[in-house]
Amino acid sequence: MIVKLRNVTKKYQEAERERVVLDSVDASFAEGEFAVLLGPSGSGKSTVLNLISGVDQADSGEIIVCDTTITSLQEPGLTLFRRDNVGIIFQFFNLIPTLTVLENIILPFELQGNSHKAARQRGQTVLEQVGLGDRADAFPDRLSGGQQQRVAIARALVHEPTLILADEPTGNLDPTTGKAVVELLLKTTRDAGKTLIMATHSMEIVPYADRVFRIDDGKLVEDTQRLRKGAEIRAELESQLHNQYEMKMSEI
Ligand SMILES: Nc1ncnc2c1ncn2[C@@H]1O[C@H](COP(=O)(O)OP(=O)(O)OP(=O)(O)O)[C@@H](O)[C@H]1O
Ligand SMILES: [Mg+2]
Repeated sequence: MIVKLRNVTKKYQEAERERVVLDSVDASFAEGEFAVLLGPSGSGKSTVLNLISGVDQADSGEIIVCDTTITSLQEPGLTLFRRDNVGIIFQFFNLIPTLTVLENIILPFELQGNSHKAARQRGQTVLEQVGLGDRADAFPDRLSGGQQQRVAIARALVHEPTLILADEPTGNLDPTTGKAVVELLLKTTRDAGKTLIMATHSMEIVPYADRVFRIDDGKLVEDTQRLRKGAEIRAELESQLHNQYEMKMSEI
């Protein structure tokens, strides 16, 4: 297992009262898996991702990521752990506006101690993978939303982390661009054998998932019904594509 949550509880203080966002949650995610986290706004999706990346700290319980018990780590250990193991993609891209596309994405790789030259080479390779090989020297504000999110995907992959966390990566994109971005994210993570955990409101992603979770009243519940439905839709889509292909071939 790449990620294990054991009896994890997370509360926030809200004015007078305490709000239990995650209530004794147990879950695990396997290597190479694509897991989707669903749940209404405020249910705790981002909280789960932030706990797994060590950006936020649990009140109790244990979280193990890539064989490291991160609930026992403190700064700067947590930052080092993230740098080596995790790539994160956000809804609002979070690119640095004063750096070029290439400079943005090679930052995590250089922080790992690689030379500038090696970083530029690796950065260029990953940019080609996301279809932006010719935009290395552009500044982020010159790119469309979809292109900026592709840069963010490249940045999350550049240092070859085992685990990719995506928090509503399509939340700020139109549906067509969103679909293209998700397909790219899936392809690049699957090609590289990475584990992807994605929080989203978008049901269109469910057919691609290996596992579907929903956060329900502080519990992380596996939604096998939705997973099955998604798999059916996926099979239908694929057979339609296949039929279309057969039809086209028969015209030759
Ligand atoms: N830093 C914080 N301080 C206090 N409360 C917080 C903090 N961060 C999150 N919360 C609360 O925790 C709950 C879960 O928030 P979270 O951001 O995880 O939800 P979410 O499922 O990601 O929602 P959305 O779909 O809107 O992104 C919310 O009620 C939120 O108000
Ligand atoms: Mg959120």
